Amino acid sequence: MRTGKIISFEGPDGAGKTSVLESLLPVLQNKYDGQVIMTREPGGVAIAEKIRDIILDVNHTSMDSKTELLLYAAARRQHLVEKILPELTKGNLVLIDRFIDSSVAYQGYGRGIATIDVDWLNDYATDGIKPDLTLLFDVPSETGLARIQKNNNREVNRLDLEKLDMHQRVRQGYLTIANQEPDRFKVIDASQSLEDVIEETRTILEAFLELSS
Ligand code: TYD
Repeated sequence: MRTGKIISFEGPDGAGKTSVLESLLPVLQNKYDGQVIMTREPGGVAIAEKIRDIILDVNHTSMDSKTELLLYAAARRQHLVEKILPELTKGNLVLIDRFIDSSVAYQGYGRGIATIDVDWLNDYATDGIKPDLTLLFDVPSETGLARIQKNNNREVNRLDLEKLDMHQRVRQGYLTIANQEPDRFKVIDASQSLEDVIEETRTILEAFLELSS
């Protein structure tokens, strides 16, 4: 039986979700009655990390949108089976930097693949498993892209190189999904200072853990 929980961290590029996740990990480790595991997509296990390298390679400019979607789904399946499910069975809390909603936002709304197809493929890859809570770090595309350009330590990937209008569709797509599933999503204004975003996120996570303990 699965007794653990999944919290996914989502948002457009440059929203700062990874920094927030890393800084709140110790807080969650303190509060959660079990182990807290942090992982990411695409990747998280060796096979999925190899798929990640193929997807994000800046030289792969000829990659077709459906190929891209299928590769994300393949990486997700392997990650779920090899890492996420065993942790859930042990009752652990799994924090994922991007999950199913990234495919709906980027390949669905961003690339223009029908979201009904993306939803189906997500369901197929995860056997219908969804996060218990999804935090959406929302930021205007111009702000997100400016942050990426300023951050010299960040590796630039193929998706970062997309034009502003693709990033804007991704952002709007995320907001649409969040509206459709208000019980699962909490939207955080990530245009605030990093300290304020961390504080707002901490409050939401503590309330969630309190309720679900
Ligand atoms: P990454 O360097 O992990 O970006 P970030 O730090 O913003 O999370 O690269 C992941 C990229 O892959 C990011 O641009 C979003 C994209 N992506 C999709 O397009 N679809 C997906 O299903 C996933 C998981 C990620």
